[in-house]
Amino acid sequence: MSSFIDFGAAKKLKDMSQNQNRITGLFQIKYPIIQGGMIWHSGWRLASAVSNNGGLGLIGAGSMYPDTLRENIQKCKAATDKPFGVNVPMLYPNLDEVINIILEEKVKVVFTSAGNPKTYTETLQKEGLKVAHVVSSTKFALKCEQAGVDAVVAEGFEAGGHNGRDETTTFCLIPNVRKHISTPLIAAGGIALGSQMKAAMILGADGVQIGSRFAATQEASSHHDWKNKIISLNEGDTHLTLKELAPVRMVKNKFYHDLEKLYETGRNVDALKETLGRARSKRGMFEGDLEEGELEIGQVSALIEEILPVEKVFENILKEYYGASVSDF
Ligand SMILES: Cc1cc2nc3c(=O)[nH]c(=O)nc-3n(C[C@H](O)[C@H](O)[C@H](O)COP(=O)(O)O)c2cc1C
Repeated sequence: MSSFIDFGAAKKLKDMSQNQNRITGLFQIKYPIIQGGMIWHSGWRLASAVSNNGGLGLIGAGSMYPDTLRENIQKCKAATDKPFGVNVPMLYPNLDEVINIILEEKVKVVFTSAGNPKTYTETLQKEGLKVAHVVSSTKFALKCEQAGVDAVVAEGFEAGGHNGRDETTTFCLIPNVRKHISTPLIAAGGIALGSQMKAAMILGADGVQIGSRFAATQEASSHHDWKNKIISLNEGDTHLTLKELAPVRMVKNKFYHDLEKLYETGRNVDALKETLGRARSKRGMFEGDLEEGELEIGQVSALIEEILPVEKVFENILKEYYGASVSDF
């Protein structure tokens, strides 16, 4: 008979409930579960539901005009008295305006991504905000530490959305980042179950950032047909493409195959840009055009079987986290 060992995860959990985990302490939350900022999904409804359930909800500024962002922050404040934050992907325009709104609205937490961690960290910290930055390699995790961020999100290439060119998986990335930095570390990419969260904590993470699982919740602002598509996906249905522009993991639909055809005739960046066009992600994920739109989701979608309310997602993850033990060999 095999015995069961736990590699200290039970102690981490005890610390969590006493608010001593480095991530729960930093953001003043109950569980070290962050809902990743997601274009076209993470408005105030999703962010406030996550925060009300003990995690940290993030409003995704990437798909919002400045006025829409302000409105979402104000609605989020009205819907929760718990901490929440804003994700600022540095790929998009109006960045200074976005940062000003965040400061004016007195948001407490910012997660920056897809850019240089130095750009806004000091400005935000001077105003008392906590800042985390998202990276896909140990090299950039070190840059985050040098920039003085409060936490680093290390995201493996299984993740949905924009992603690292080097295709480093979460299982390889987290222990390596842990070895090289002492800043609080949040693992992202391929985490939807309590057992996956536990694995990430055992690998050295202090918390997890979850995207895909929260994309298929009732509170996500994305199109219902897209949510139904997510729960129908199987292993192998997504692929990381567009490395020449900004690598992104997406569903292999007609739009994806149109892009792949362009690769057959050579890697012409202009032709890729033309096919990509504008607003493809809005068309797919917000308007529900499942063939012509861009559908961003992680590999873990193969494990997501139901559209659930956020409360139920938390219940499932925590139940499994507490229950998951590792069998001795
Ligand atoms: C539909 C979708 C949109 C995303 N948009 C953003 C974004 O705007 N900014 C960002 O930093 N990350 C974005 N991400 C990444 C998530 O924040 C998160 O790190 C990632 O989904 C974690 O991996 P998982 O999908 O395996 O859970 C997006 C992910 C998805 C699935």
